[in-house]
Amino acid sequence: MSASLLIERIEVEDSSPAGGVVEIWTINRADKLNALNSEVVAALNNACSAAESDNDVRVVVIRGAAAGPALEGKRQKPAAFVAGADITEFVGKDSSEIRPIFENNAWEAIWNLSMPTVASIDGFALGGGSEIALSCDMRIATNRSNFGTPEINLGLIPGGGGTQRLTRLLGYGKAMEMVMTGEMVPAVEAYRIGLVNRLCEPEELYDTTMELAMVLANKSPHTIKVAKRAVRAALDHGLEDGVKIERDEFCALFDTDDKEIGVNAFINREKPEWKGC
Ligand code: COA
Repeated sequence: MSASLLIERIEVEDSSPAGGVVEIWTINRADKLNALNSEVVAALNNACSAAESDNDVRVVVIRGAAAGPALEGKRQKPAAFVAGADITEFVGKDSSEIRPIFENNAWEAIWNLSMPTVASIDGFALGGGSEIALSCDMRIATNRSNFGTPEINLGLIPGGGGTQRLTRLLGYGKAMEMVMTGEMVPAVEAYRIGLVNRLCEPEELYDTTMELAMVLANKSPHTIKVAKRAVRAALDHGLEDGVKIERDEFCALFDTDDKEIGVNAFINREKPEWKGC
């Protein structure tokens, strides 16, 4: 495990099938507001590959390390989820050097995970940090958090899918405003416009996140992946094709054990014991 990405596995209570875990990935560069340098990006890419090949991983939670106490003579660092790509790594690079880095990027690796993903956000989620949050399926934020795509102020635009995912999540007008002004959106406003699913106090973030993660982790691990695929289809297809994709996925579930387990558990007023197939 890389020191710049800490991975913790929390067992899912009463997990069916047995062995389920929620993985918490903590981006660990608090002194640089968890900015994504190449080491963090490589660690995120590796974590995605490992999670994808591990059937026990039911949910991935991504968060930033909390700032420690201020060092002597220094001011306290602010809370940050991730304050963007590491800007120092942009200096002097031309397109031929940056393209390979951005083609093999962590944002797509996270986006392409088949299990549910939750961003647990306290503080700044800027640039590549807001894009990590956007690559997750859901976002929980503390009310002191701030979102933004300030790349315009660096003579850049978002490069981790921000222009595309923001537009799909918030609509054209709000995405255009964020990308073109680079202004920050405070958490309460982010919640109001649908950028954030749930808001909480900083001291409640862990519990609020785990509560949601455990709800997701206790669904059939097979069915929830199908649900994720089906909702995603709405982003890539027109309505007619999307509805057909949903119907195909829905019908295919009738050949799974978990559909029979789920409907019988409902009828018998029991808790379903999923098989995951
Ligand atoms: N890349 C590299 N280092 C970063 C960084 C980034 N994206 N964001 C913050 N840091 C570093 C700072 O250089 C500073 O390092 P130092 O203490 O060694 O000098 C440390 O993190 C703390 O940041 P600082 O700017 O001193 O905190 P602040 O409270 O004054 O401001 C922000 C906080 C988030 C407003 C400010 O850091 C900022 O604007 N960051 C860049 C945001 C951005 O443009 N992101 C998009 C990148 S593509």
